[in-house]
Order: sequence, then structure tokens, then C-alpha cells
Amino acid sequence: MIEKNAKIYVAGHRGLVGSAIVRSLEKDGYTNIVKRTHSELDLTDQRVVFDFFAEERPEYVVLAAAHVGGINANQTCPADFIYINSIIQCNVIKAAHDYKVKKLLFLGSSCIYPKMAHQPISESELLTGPLETTNEGYAVAKIAGLEMCKFFKRQYGDDFISCMPTNLYGPNDNFNLETSHVLPALIRKFDDAKKNGAPSVELWGTGSPLREFLYVDDMADACVYLLQNYSGEEHVNIGTGKEISIKELAEIVKETVGFEGEIVWNSAMPDGTPRKLLDVSKLHNIGWKEKVGLRDGIRLAYEWYLAQDEKDLKK
Ligand SMILES: NC(=O)c1ccc[n+]([C@@H]2O[C@H](COP(=O)([O-])OP(=O)(O)OC[C@H]3O[C@@H](n4cnc5c(N)ncnc54)[C@H](OP(=O)(O)O)[C@@H]3O)[C@@H](O)[C@H]2O)c1
Repeated sequence: MIEKNAKIYVAGHRGLVGSAIVRSLEKDGYTNIVKRTHSELDLTDQRVVFDFFAEERPEYVVLAAAHVGGINANQTCPADFIYINSIIQCNVIKAAHDYKVKKLLFLGSSCIYPKMAHQPISESELLTGPLETTNEGYAVAKIAGLEMCKFFKRQYGDDFISCMPTNLYGPNDNFNLETSHVLPALIRKFDDAKKNGAPSVELWGTGSPLREFLYVDDMADACVYLLQNYSGEEHVNIGTGKEISIKELAEIVKETVGFEGEIVWNSAMPDGTPRKLLDVSKLHNIGWKEKVGLRDGIRLAYEWYLAQDEKDLKK
């Protein structure tokens, strides 16, 4: 049991994932959540990270801070993605060990799995084949992070666990069309088109790829549930186990936004991997299942988007 006044440090608390985890912890009655912005505590700086742990002595840590970006950024700056994410993980996981943190949860991403993994992708597919090249630097860093947790547990008995969420969406997402993921990009494109009275919206690819999406507050609930109920060595996939084509997804977002024009598919643009679905039977067996369906989640995400001042949206 995690005491409701336990000191819990959430790294990356302003991000899509970190902010949702703070909401979930507060909803569960946790009152002693420690937060530091990137400018207050640069996690790539080992000395300040260890000073922070020495001063604050957190009992629990959720590592949701990471250098993330879209396909273009990953392809043009692979060195930044492998270095920055590796150093953040090394600093926080080692400090958590040295300062005897009771439990740490590390967040990776489903990009850790081989490009041609068997679908749905179970945890055992890890390191069984070549990675998707577009974000290899990032993926290798994340694999190092989950293996680090596994080996600190094996060598020292640290209760460090890892989870691999599927594609997430919701409040505090990135809506910058250059760097965002597909779902926030669809919301922004249809909303802009509706506001500008555009006759059509052009979307990349053929619309045929199949993808899985999880509302971020659900993902956060799963993380808190794993913190409270799971101490296994192997990482745990977090998803819904349900997939949808990008074409069907675009239709749902178009409807939710209320755009009445046409969708034009630009099949000259890349589709990415044809299918990416996580096997979540392990998570279900541990006793957790999502609550928010895709249509409701997209409506909630759009309502959050409309409620933001233009300047506050990550652009
Ligand atoms: N988004 C998804 O669909 C998705 C899916 C699966 C897994 N995940 C995982 O979830 C984690 C968080 O992703 P996200 O989508 O929440 O990203 P995000 O919205 O960009 O949040 C990342 C957070 O990390 C902070 N950060 C970055 N570098 C830092 C540093 N050097 N020192 C301190 N803080 C730093 C950022 O602060 P600033 O903004 O101030 O720089 C930001 O608050 C990642 O590990 C990712 O793999 C995300």
C-alpha cells in the first residue's frame, strides 16, 4: 500500500503523460506530490539531480520526463534523442537507487518493439528483431531504460518497474503540426478547416494503417494501478487491445469537430508501419482495463483543445 501522504516525485509533470499522472494521483487522494519544471531541474545534469534527491528524498518516483518529438525530429536529430533520453534515465534511476527510493515507474513507448513484430505485440517480442529506423535512437534509449530497471531489480532488489504505453492522446498533448502525433494533428487540421470555411482537408497517406489509441487519463490510472499492484521484472504493455484504421479515425475526428467538407488522401506521403497493436492480456490479467472509449476520448480531447488559449497550445 502506498500511504496517501507518501512523497511521490513525478518527473515531467507538465507533459501529456506527467500531467495526467499527477491528475490520477490527486484523484486517488495522494497529497504529497513533488514537481519540478525542466528549468528548475534539468534531468540531464547529474549533479543537480543527485542534489535534488538528497534534499527531497522522494519515496516513489514516476519517470515521465523525456525528450520526445515527431518523425522529422527523430530522423534529423537521432544523437539528441539517444543521448538526452539515456542521460535522463541514468541520472534518475541511479539517484533513485542511491537514495533508496521505495518504488520507481519508468515510462517507455511501444516504439521499442521490432518493426515486424508479431501482432498484437506481446512483451516477449522485445529485442527479437530490427527496430523501426525512423526513431531508432529514441527506441534504443528506451530499451536501455527498461533493461536498467530490470537489472537494478535483479542485482540490488530495487522495486523498479516499467510500462510501455501505446499511442496516447488527451489534455496537454502537442498540437504542433510539424511535431505532433496523428490524433492531435487531425483535431487541429479539421478545426482550422472548419474555422476557415475550407472545402476540404488533405491528410497524409492512404488511411489504411491500423493504430491503437488510449486516452491519457486512462493510461495514468493504469500507471498508478501498476505502482500499487505490480512488482514484476518484465515491463508491462498499456493499451486497449483495440485498433482502428487512420481512415475511420479521421471520420470520427471530422464528425466530432463538425467539419462538413471533404477529406483528400495524399497517398504520395508515407503511411508508416501497416499495423501496430499491443497485446494487453498481461495488464488485463493484473486486473486493469481502460474506461474511456475512443469516441468519448476524442470528444474530451477536443473540448480541452477548444478551452485553450492559442498561445498555450504547444506549437
Ligand atoms: N505521447 C505519447 O503518445 C506516448 C506514448 C507512449 C509513451 N509515451 C512516453 O511518455 C513519456 C512522456 O511523453 P509525453 O508524451 O508526456 O512528452 P511531453 O508531453 O513532451 O512531456 C515530456 C516532459 O519531460 C520534460 N523534460 C524533457 N526534458 C527534460 C529535462 N532535461 N529535464 C527535465 N524535464 C524534462 C518536459 O518539460 P519541458 O516541456 O519543460 O521541456 C515535459 O514536461 C515518454 O517517456 C514517452 O516515451 C508517450
